[in-house]
Amino acid sequence: SGRNLGRRFIQNASSTRVPNFAFAFDIDGVLLRASKPIPGAAETLALLKRQNIPFILLTNGGGKHETERVAEISQKLNVPLDATDIVQSHSPFAELVKGTDETSALEHKCVLVAGGDGDGCRRVAEQYGFKNVVTPGDIFMANPSIWPFSKNFYDYYKTFARPLPKPVDPRDPAKSLKIDAMFVFNDPRDWALDTQVIMDLLLSSQGHLGTLSDKNGRADLPNHGYQQDGQPHLYFSNPDLWWAAAYPLPRLGQGGFREALGGVWAATTGGPGKGIELKKSVIGKPYQGTYEFAERQMLRNRSTAFGGATNLPHLQHVYMIGDNPESDIRGANSYRSNIGSSWQSILVRTGVYSGGEPAWTPKTIADDVQKAVQWALEASK
Ligand code: G3P
Ligand code: MG
Repeated sequence: SGRNLGRRFIQNASSTRVPNFAFAFDIDGVLLRASKPIPGAAETLALLKRQNIPFILLTNGGGKHETERVAEISQKLNVPLDATDIVQSHSPFAELVKGTDETSALEHKCVLVAGGDGDGCRRVAEQYGFKNVVTPGDIFMANPSIWPFSKNFYDYYKTFARPLPKPVDPRDPAKSLKIDAMFVFNDPRDWALDTQVIMDLLLSSQGHLGTLSDKNGRADLPNHGYQQDGQPHLYFSNPDLWWAAAYPLPRLGQGGFREALGGVWAATTGGPGKGIELKKSVIGKPYQGTYEFAERQMLRNRSTAFGGATNLPHLQHVYMIGDNPESDIRGANSYRSNIGSSWQSILVRTGVYSGGEPAWTPKTIADDVQKAVQWALEASK
């Protein structure tokens, strides 16, 4: 609707210039590296703000609430941002609080939240609306023998652990703490304790901690039968096997923990290659659900940016700028937009990708985010 000012901007009814494109920026390795601004990042976001070109931050990172994370980024990159400008790895988990119906709602169910520093992720989950959140640290402090080797971290866990809502009582499963869902919100800091607790629950009787289902995963049982018959479902928020941190080489991410846990599961339930498939949900880039969540958020922001208008010109292009071919490029390339937007991936050299033929082919490769945006602005003319 309205006059077309070249391909990039369309004048809507109230004669405001509305761009028919937007940007999605990965954070680690694109805007920040080890929490420090990457050269050109601040200037780039300032330019888009000046030209009223919408953008969203789309990260597999997390561990803090969106408001807290954007406040930090806003300060580091000197750009005004609010919680709606970012989608973190665990942001979509907020939709599980109410679920799609009474039975799927987890709001009042007892959920395990693993990962992150201290109980930061518990507090994020509570800010999302989860009312009964337990951490592996709580479980350890209530039962230190659950993992004999975390005693070295006792002083750490003591700083944030809370009493369990119910005791762990192997003798009386019905009375023992029951976990209804397990979430890995961010990279676990104590892979050993988190692996042990999650394995205990995957092998439990109906999610009652300290019990063992009569069929689940015991090599001494005839069929190692693993029945998803009430064990809590396991949700991972970030598939990244590697990510760009301070060290010059990529570091293991939450995907590393997932693969380690998967190895323990396979060995427990039948051995390599014979293991029983571990039922789990993994969200985050490159998966469709996370890109859909980001696109919905982007459309809400675009409407807000233009006075709540609902008849804005179609969002034709979204330029996804990332450093990790496996999550950012693969995700944008394979995303099938629900509104017919074309997501175009741009790979930068300031993070995980360090040259050569990337496993997933981007629209273009740029030295850094500033050059990537310059390329996109040219392309959208
Ligand atoms: O855990 C953070 C890491 O997985 C990468 O985050 O911002 O590059 O998607 P990001
Ligand atoms: Mg990255």
